[in-house]
Formats: sequence, structure tokens, C-alpha cells
Amino acid sequence: MALVGPSPLLDTNPFAAVLGDLREERGATVPFPPGDTRFSLARTRRFANDPLPLLLDAYERFGPIFTLRVFHGNVVFMLGPAANHYITVSHAANFTWRESHFRDLIGLMGDGLLTIDGDFHRRSRLIMLPGFHRERIAASVDVMVDETSRALEELTAGDRIDLYTWTRRLALRIAMRALFGLDPDGETARAVDAAGLFEQALSFFSSEYALRMLRGPRTPWARLQQAARSLDRLIYAEISSRRASGERGEDILSLLLDASDEDGTTLTDLQIRDEVMTLMFAGHDTTTSTVAFMFHELAHHPEIVARLQAEQDSQLVDGLPTPSQLMSGELSELEMVFDETLRMYPPAWIGPRRSVEAFEFAGCSVPGRAFVNYSSWASHHLPDVFPEPDQFRPERFAPEAKAALPKGAYVPFGGGSRTCIGMRFGQLEIRTIATLLLSRFTLTLAEDFQLEIRQMPTISPRHGLPVVVHARSHLGAAQRSLAHSDSL
Ligand code: HEM
Repeated sequence: MALVGPSPLLDTNPFAAVLGDLREERGATVPFPPGDTRFSLARTRRFANDPLPLLLDAYERFGPIFTLRVFHGNVVFMLGPAANHYITVSHAANFTWRESHFRDLIGLMGDGLLTIDGDFHRRSRLIMLPGFHRERIAASVDVMVDETSRALEELTAGDRIDLYTWTRRLALRIAMRALFGLDPDGETARAVDAAGLFEQALSFFSSEYALRMLRGPRTPWARLQQAARSLDRLIYAEISSRRASGERGEDILSLLLDASDEDGTTLTDLQIRDEVMTLMFAGHDTTTSTVAFMFHELAHHPEIVARLQAEQDSQLVDGLPTPSQLMSGELSELEMVFDETLRMYPPAWIGPRRSVEAFEFAGCSVPGRAFVNYSSWASHHLPDVFPEPDQFRPERFAPEAKAALPKGAYVPFGGGSRTCIGMRFGQLEIRTIATLLLSRFTLTLAEDFQLEIRQMPTISPRHGLPVVVHARSHLGAAQRSLAHSDSL
């Protein structure tokens, strides 16, 4: 059976989509969970600009399942370990992604793995999985080390840089080379500022809800489409040159070009484009934010930096990690810092879904066709699960403590059949960038910098991460002696 993609969403006109949502909401056969269900522009704005306090406040008042009216419609939120497990694992089949309130992402990514459901999702995932097997990921270490070392060469002590932008460009170069075998310095790639284009496309999701409804020239939607078209040129050029030359490598693009069904049907250029676009988006934005958030916290915790540097001193050879150290995550201090960063700032902070049938959870009914979300960000901030959740404490993820967490408590990579397919790749990349950066430099935040978080639709530092670069030996020596005295 040929791999046929889903039909387009019924209502691609945003006004028709809103009317359709309202009709379905009115036709609900069971009540929505309790919550704030009257229209409020202020709440809609808060949800777009600062959702975490809004969700935590509603959790306090209503418990693990509640409804908030956001823009035109009721949206159900389910928070906490049991809720995460319910949506992602035990009852995953009752939820679709495609018609969730993030459906506008289809305008950028098309029908790639993230935005599809059911049998098409299962079969597409089967095609992609070999590209993410351990040995394939291991083959990417060299590219990651090479690209990171090259990017570090550009830095000198005393520099002031935006670590977020620096990492974003690095992560895109790594994604291009390791995932798609694309030369970021080649003619086609150089003609396209992929990082800038993603920034432009995704800014759609940080614009006002009402503006997102508009179509036509100079609207946020037009900017998204324009950026998508430019990125398309890069992707289609590579697809056609690989088809023409027959050249294949160890990358995912090669895998997609050669994938075929039992009856010999291969993927169309459009299907390949959608998967590549999805992986480029999901594969650089999340890792970039994680690195930025990690170094934000480290800048506030020199005692943790000292522990990381002490670990490097005792375990790295000539200041360089081995591929197996990076793959296994055996630098245990770094691993805990990494886990705690993803607890406090999980970039893919919300799992958008739409219910298929009505269901019950924690004593509340939820209609079929309702917008339902889980949220790692809010779930990771519940004080009954993570005491003093605003404190950055890597020791929460010491092996025994991590093993004792309830099922579904910690879900930075989602769960079940939609668990992040790039998890190992992302982990390896972040370990590589963090280890090499820490082995060379210490970073302090630019004076007066205050972290503000935007969602677009992943979370990231709204104003980047301006830092000052210091040679490591300079600060490191003092800190290492501090770490030593701590351990006496
Ligand atoms: C720190 C890094 C990353 C984090 C925290 C992260 C997080 C997530 C989460 C939470 C989901 C599930 C979303 C949901 O349930 O709706 C997801 C899905 C996905 N991620 Fe990641 N991700 C990361 C890195 C990557 C990388 C590097 C890639 C690609 C190379 C990638 C590709 C994907 C794809 C394709 C999906 C959709 C999977 C499916 O539905 O079958 N991610 N990611």
C-alpha cells in the first residue's frame, strides 16, 4: 500500500476554522472541565506572552485538569505525571496532533512527522527510525565536534556575544551536515540564511492571535510563507541534485530518497521536503534554546560551573571528550545539569492535541473534538512533584532521585509513540557543545541582563543570551580550588 499523506485540513481559511471550532464547541455532548471559560483578551495575551504563571495558577484553583478560554475557544489543559502519561501513553490514540491549536505549523512544515497522526504517522516514523539508531547518531559525533570547535575558534576572551544566536547558527550547520549531508558552505546553502529564515517564519507564532488570522501581503502569515519558500529552494535543490547524481550518504535525506513501500512506491519530493523541514525546525530550535538556558543558569551558579570543570579535569584527556564519553553521558555532573535545564526550561513546552472521543480524567468529562494540551513546562513546576521548582538544583537528577520520579513526571521529550525521535541526536549535540564550550571558556551574563521567555512556539530567551566570554583558566583555577575545598 502506497504511503498516502493525509488530506488537507478542511478549514484552511482561518475564519472558517474559527467558525468550525465554535460550532464543534457548541455541539459538545458532555461539559468541559471547570475553569475560566469566559472570553478574556487579557488571558489570551497572557497565554501568548507568559503562559507558565497562568497555568500554575489554574492548577492551584482547579486541579490537574481545567479549561481556559484562549482567544475564541475553550482549551483544556491536563497537568502532572498522571495527565502526561494519559495523553502521551495510555490513551494516546484518542488524541490527534494535526487539528490541535498548533495546526498553523502545517503552513511551514507540511505533513512531516510532527503534524501527522494515525497510520500515516506510524508508517512515516518506521521509515525515519533507522536514521536515528544509535550507530547512526554515533556517526554524527565527528561533525558535531568539528562544527563546535570551528565555532569556538571564532571566540576570544573578552568578546561579547549573543550565545543564543551563536548556538542557533551552529545547530543549523550541524543539522544540515549530520542529518542531510548538506554542505553549509556550499553555494546553495550560503545563498540562504537558514537561521534567519526560521526566525522569520516562527515569528508568526509570537504575533497577536488576531494578526495570525490575517492573510495577504505583509501579514505574519505572508512572512511565514515567504521564509518557507526560501527554505524550500534549498531543500528541493538538494533533493533534485541527489536524485540526479544518485549520490547517497549516511544521512536521513539519503534514507528518505531510497525509502519504498512493499509495492515499490517511493516518497514524493513534497513528502521528503516536509520531513526535512520538520527535522530542521525541530532539530535546531530545541537544542539552541537548551544550550542558552543551560548557560543562563550556569552564569548564576559559579559553584556548579566549578563542579563541571572539576569533572572535566578528572575525566577528559587533553581537555577533549571522547566520542564514547559524549554518547554515554558518563560525565555525570553535566548530565544532571542537562536534566535540570530541561526540567526548568523544556523547549517543546506544550503538547498540543485534539480529542477524538469524549473522555473522563480525574473525575472530569472532556468533549470529543476539544483542544487538549499537556505541558511539560507547567508539569515540571508543580511543587508537589519538584519541591521549590524555581530553584536550579541539578542534584534532583542524581541517579537514585531520578529513578524515584513518578511515571510521567519528567517529560521534556514527550512520551509514547510520539516521543521525540531526535532525542539521542539532541542529547549528543548539547553534551558536545556544552563540554567543548566549558573546556575553553567561562561565560558571564551581560550586565543588567534579565531573562524573559518567549514562546515561538518553542520557548527561548526573548532577547537572546548576551554573554561575556572569559578564558577558562582565568576563572577556572579559582573555582577549581573552591570545588576542591568543598569536597574536603
Ligand atoms: C533538547 C532537544 C529536544 C527536545 C527537548 C525535544 C522535545 C520534543 C518533544 C517534547 C516532542 C513531542 C511533542 C509532542 O508530544 O507533541 C518532540 C517530538 C519530535 N522531535 Fe524533538 N526535541 C529535541 C530535539 C530534537 C531533534 C534534535 C530532532 C531532530 C533531529 C527532533 C525531532 C523531533 C520530531 C521529528 C518530533 C515528532 C515525533 C513524532 O511525532 O513522531 N527533536 N520533541
